[in-house]
Amino acid sequence: MLLLSDKFGRPITDLRISITDHCNYKCVYCRTGNEGALYSDLPFTDYLRMARIFAGLGIRKVRITGGEPLLRKGVVEFVRELAKLRTTDDEPLELAITTNGHLLAEMAQPLKDAGLRRATVSMDAVDPDRFARITRVPNGFDNVLAGIRAARHAGLWPVKVNCVLMRGFNEDQIIPFGMFAREEGVIVRFIEFMPLEEDRTWAPETVVTLDEIVARMAEYRPLVEIPHERSETARRYHFDDGIGEIGIIAPVSHPFCGHCSRIRITSDGKIRTCLFSVWDHDLHELMRRNASDEELVEFICGVVARKEERHHIGEADFVPASRTMVHIGG
Ligand code: GTP
Ligand code: 5AD
Repeated sequence: MLLLSDKFGRPITDLRISITDHCNYKCVYCRTGNEGALYSDLPFTDYLRMARIFAGLGIRKVRITGGEPLLRKGVVEFVRELAKLRTTDDEPLELAITTNGHLLAEMAQPLKDAGLRRATVSMDAVDPDRFARITRVPNGFDNVLAGIRAARHAGLWPVKVNCVLMRGFNEDQIIPFGMFAREEGVIVRFIEFMPLEEDRTWAPETVVTLDEIVARMAEYRPLVEIPHERSETARRYHFDDGIGEIGIIAPVSHPFCGHCSRIRITSDGKIRTCLFSVWDHDLHELMRRNASDEELVEFICGVVARKEERHHIGEADFVPASRTMVHIGG
């Protein structure tokens, strides 16, 4: 059986599909606040065909991303169709979504009923005013909190909360987020800021590093590292009393490219082999030209084989990615 792997022998088992690059938030670490969607969406049937072909090549996990994926009408039906696909071991795919949570309160249960297994919500402050300053949207905080609680209630377990730390904006939220993880029963994951933003404000000094996060949290309660899967983005921690889980995603200070298992499809149907790719590969163009499944498989295998070894953040030869995060998918 033909299974996807790259020239460094990394098995590719995790597919992320962006279903729109439109977003209703303008987070300071992501958007300029001006630009809207740049690329067109595809009909869900096209993403489904791509997902089916990838599932036949060894993909086990599909994460729906954006932009903000819940803005797209028909997303629940899309999940229901994805849930019918099988892995090469004849198992259902593990279906997850990354969302800003603004519309999640009313959609969590329908998504769960359709076959979604897990949800990750982006939330960068536990203080409503700070939240508004970061997202540049007034009054979003209550919606997102309600969304997180609805996801837990619906059984989209575990609910993960992603917090991108950016110096000068929210590094004082580390301890409040530690308390939040314990009180709300969610996994809070701090993410080091990467140079993938639209207005190019990234500089090494803006990154709040893993070491700094661990040290700051210890002023509240010490963290104890627990094992994580090799291909996982996050290092995992419990508090010393075993209550509450924290993750730290440290692509800048502790890169994890060597165990990368991810591949991405953009909302306009391009394959990206790395967040930091300087090119993408037009799968949808082939589909438009009526390519057969076999031709798509051949194209995908050729593209994946050439996946980049690692990113070059902070190095002299760093070349910015050809798309920013909102136009790639998280
Ligand atoms: P699960 O482990 O299934 O929950 O998924 P995940 O950790 O891949 O989740 P998520 O989509 O929430 O990704 C978390 C964050 O990790 C993203 O928002 C990115 O900031 C970062 N990340 C994800 N994939 C990559 C990658 O391939 N390279 C780098 N440098 N960062 C990544
Ligand atoms: N660096 C790190 N993480 C980012 N995200 C968006 N932009 C960046 C960046 N420049 C995160 C969001 C969301 C996910 C899709 O990616 O917070 O959780």
